[in-house]
Amino acid sequence: MVERTRQLMQANEELRREIGERERAERKLRGVQEELVETAHRAGMAEIATGVLHNVGNVLTSVNVSSNLAMEKIRKLGVQDMVKVAQLLEQHQDDLGRFITEDRRGRHLAPFLIDLSRYMVQQEEEIIAELKSLQKNIDHIKEIIAVQQSNARITGFVQEVNLSQVIDDAIQINAASMERHRIVIVREYEDLPLVLVEKQKLMQILINLLSNAKHALRDCENPDKKIVVRLKRLGTDRVQIEVQDNGMGIEERNLTRIFAHGFTTKKDGHGFGLHGAALHAKEMGGALVARSDGPGQGAVFTLEFPFRAVEKLKRGEAEQRRSSRSESSQTPALA
Ligand SMILES: Nc1ncnc2c1ncn2[C@@H]1O[C@H](COP(=O)(O)OP(=O)(O)OP(=O)(O)O)[C@@H](O)[C@H]1O
Ligand SMILES: [Mg+2]
Repeated sequence: MVERTRQLMQANEELRREIGERERAERKLRGVQEELVETAHRAGMAEIATGVLHNVGNVLTSVNVSSNLAMEKIRKLGVQDMVKVAQLLEQHQDDLGRFITEDRRGRHLAPFLIDLSRYMVQQEEEIIAELKSLQKNIDHIKEIIAVQQSNARITGFVQEVNLSQVIDDAIQINAASMERHRIVIVREYEDLPLVLVEKQKLMQILINLLSNAKHALRDCENPDKKIVVRLKRLGTDRVQIEVQDNGMGIEERNLTRIFAHGFTTKKDGHGFGLHGAALHAKEMGGALVARSDGPGQGAVFTLEFPFRAVEKLKRGEAEQRRSSRSESSQTPALA
């Protein structure tokens, strides 16, 4: 009996020790799990942050070009010439009539002023156009950040847009460097109604595709560099946008790898663009795929996503209002 009790107590003690060990192991496991979740969270944040910086960086290149051009034009505006003219007039204010008609330098003044004013008007128009494009790009950066901030809380910031206008805006952001590389852009847009889509996501996708196409053309020998952008309607509620270039092309084995975060073949690349673009496409309920017949054969990126037509939506709302009005007008009769 004593022996049996001793055995039981020993078994009990072993059980207690085992439970204790298991609890310690569980606590440790929980700790590791929490650490993993935290790391994954931080990695996700880092991915979002690099994505945002990358997209802002794309637009900043264009901001830089516009502000340099505007500065250059202001420098050449002719303000100094105007100052010299004013000084001459001031020096001869007592005999202005004689100076303008008889003096060698004075006689050149009137035609010079006419030329200068024409030149200034033209320069002014160009500076305003450049500053407008700068303003548009700054607004775009603001939107990228605002969307990112709102995305942290709600996903899907839907706006009413004209799709061909959104494509043109994305082209505009890359326009200066396209021109520098002598790349011709061909637009093939089908007519589409105003639609409701996540405009900023679409812009990001297009800017990245166009910038990649530009790089593919920059790094190839083709003298006839061309990007074709197509906008097509698919059925009633889907749309397809294609960005095709006749640049360096993509090896078959890379056609899916190019979408992986960090995959790049460029010296100065990060491999963020297509990964972010594919994610955005998915968030919009669509998809992004790449096609290429191989190196030197160019590439086509096809983006497809669903849309809601504004007109249809408004008609639906009006019908709903009409039916609820007729229901309420029937109520007294029924009562
Ligand atoms: N139009 C294209 N033609 C040929 N190769 C392309 C094209 N678009 C993308 N690629 C390939 O896919 C890779 C990944 O593109 P992605 O946009 O993700 O990154 P990246 O352009 O290299 O760098 P970044 O992060 O600056 O965009 C590129 O390095 C390139 O090899
Ligand atoms: Mg890229």
